[in-house]
Amino acid sequence: MSVIAVIGAQWGDEGKGKVVDLLAQKARVVVRFSGGDNAGHTVINPYGKFALHLIPSGIFSSQAVCIIGNGVVINPAVLIDEIDQLNQRGVDTSRLFISDRAHLIMPYHILLDGLEEESRAGKALGTTRRGIGPAFADKTARLGIRTGDLLDKEVLLERLHLILDGKNIILTKVYGVSPLSLDEVYSQYCQYGERLAPYIRETTIMLEEALNREELVLLEGAQGALLDPDFGTYPYTTSSSPLAGGGCLGAGLGPTRISRIIGVFKAYCTRVGGGPMPTELKDETGDLIRERAHEYGTTTGRPRRCGWFDAVAARFSTRINGFTGAAITRLDILDSFPRLKVCVGYKLDGQTIDYFSGSIATLEKCQPIYEELPGWQAPTTNVRQYEQLPVKARQYLTRLEELIFCPIDIISVGAGRDQTIIKVPIL
Ligand code: IMP
Repeated sequence: MSVIAVIGAQWGDEGKGKVVDLLAQKARVVVRFSGGDNAGHTVINPYGKFALHLIPSGIFSSQAVCIIGNGVVINPAVLIDEIDQLNQRGVDTSRLFISDRAHLIMPYHILLDGLEEESRAGKALGTTRRGIGPAFADKTARLGIRTGDLLDKEVLLERLHLILDGKNIILTKVYGVSPLSLDEVYSQYCQYGERLAPYIRETTIMLEEALNREELVLLEGAQGALLDPDFGTYPYTTSSSPLAGGGCLGAGLGPTRISRIIGVFKAYCTRVGGGPMPTELKDETGDLIRERAHEYGTTTGRPRRCGWFDAVAARFSTRINGFTGAAITRLDILDSFPRLKVCVGYKLDGQTIDYFSGSIATLEKCQPIYEELPGWQAPTTNVRQYEQLPVKARQYLTRLEELIFCPIDIISVGAGRDQTIIKVPIL
């Protein structure tokens, strides 16, 4: 067996949770490797409907060990709440482990995320305000506090003392808000530590052991490639790498271990927050997609920006991730459109370009060049075999396959676990 990475190929919210939930049936380890509780992975299975923010979507599979990797930033309050909610609904969380190297989201990160966004006024990034950016900034600045620090109260106090003084100067002198109390934050995080201690481990050993036993390990991505801080629409990005390469760093695996990389694409595009999105439809077609698909953020409830499939962005995503296969989700949302459009290039200052620029100013100016395809105008939600899909739906998928440079393995035609067409068996 091997390591399969499930990666968001667009701007997040592609349906990675469903794909992981599906593959987790055979996996022995599932690792979340990036982001934090900015993610919202919706899973609908025999236990009911869940929106997971931190716990890997593999938690519903009775044989899978679930790891929150070192690359994740953890808000302990959110994690404890998520554990409690799962337990209350009959889901066992005794197979959950947290890397002792994962950084913690602290109260000042959340405060600063909001204050920084407000200070950007009209140029706000549209973050989820969960403290993600400030927590990753502190990790890089070597001012972070890690889950492992929760296991030793003296270490925690010393670290918090050192860091909180500086944060309070920023809070009071730069933003003019009240300082945070060392005693309060410390006692709160001591309580979190007591509650989370049984889950905190050195987790890379667990991965190595699973691979030595030739078991299947899944890397569960969060967000999407176009939100990557290097390759996404910087600065309108998140702060950790959602790419397959980020999976190695955020889980503690060598790149040679990954054997398959599944890129998860919606059959159209969505984005939440600011930044360029060349195929955004600010018209009734965009509204129709949003309402039909209920495109509202799982974490923030914000309406998502909707548009046609952008094959230029998709091909870029395949290139920087090295996808070996694709999962196309939400195909059913397109069921009733008489005609569909796919962006195959951009018009820029009178020229045609076929690459996803690194400059947001350039991307803002890009006008999509569309190829039109006939819609199939028939329901697909009950289809389970590829051959049973309407011919025009297969034509649409075949065209996407050609354009994204990657074969389609999985097609999702509804939120339920069973509403899935396995075109090429992965396991
Ligand atoms: P942050 O990750 O909260 O700092 O937000 C930065 C950008 O990433 C914003 O545009 C968010 O809307 C976007 N973002 C973060 N997490 C997700 C996600 O899980 N799905 C979609 N967009 C996300």
